[in-house]
Amino acid sequence: MNKLVGKKFMESGTASAAKYGREQAWQLLAEWTESESLRKHARAVEICVSACGVAEADRLRLDSEEREKLLELYATTALLHDFDYERHPTLDEHPFVGVRELERLGWPTELRTAILGHAQYSGVPRVTHVDKALFACDELAGFLTACALVKPTKAIAEVEVAGVRKKMKDKAFARGVNREDVIQGAAELGVDLDAHIGFCLEAMKKRAGEIGL
Ligand SMILES: [Fe+2]
Repeated sequence: MNKLVGKKFMESGTASAAKYGREQAWQLLAEWTESESLRKHARAVEICVSACGVAEADRLRLDSEEREKLLELYATTALLHDFDYERHPTLDEHPFVGVRELERLGWPTELRTAILGHAQYSGVPRVTHVDKALFACDELAGFLTACALVKPTKAIAEVEVAGVRKKMKDKAFARGVNREDVIQGAAELGVDLDAHIGFCLEAMKKRAGEIGL
């Protein structure tokens, strides 16, 4: 997050923190999404994006209040990125219908911009760190979940970077996950692909219980 974007975020975050927190995001997601796997996807993306948020907060050396606001933005953005998908899965509607609803409800611009940006076809550029983190974690979190689910124990603890890279080359495996998006996501975030896969894996391993892996 550059200084200007950071300042803008802090201003909007101050007014909105209480009403637009993680609990509210979870409630909205649960209201719109019955599918357990889609809810788990939102949680898995939240875990990875939040880990990116912690790294960014450390990099920016934020004090505790600023840090908390940044982490809330990252967590809520990730939780809500697909919240309209069950009701509006078409390219015409997702994520546009959801973002309109988020605007109506008063969710912050930074969150809505990142959600629009995670859909390549929206044409909305990914500029801020949270925009890039969401895009870099969305498809990857889905892919790492798929890698865990084919293990006999279905445990993310058993998944390793080398195995993930091997499975990325297997076109028949988890066909719904766009490999190019995973590669592009890490590049846009400015991190090495293996390092990013390892980073997201570690984040998911630490909070595996929350996503049943
Ligand atoms: Fe997603």
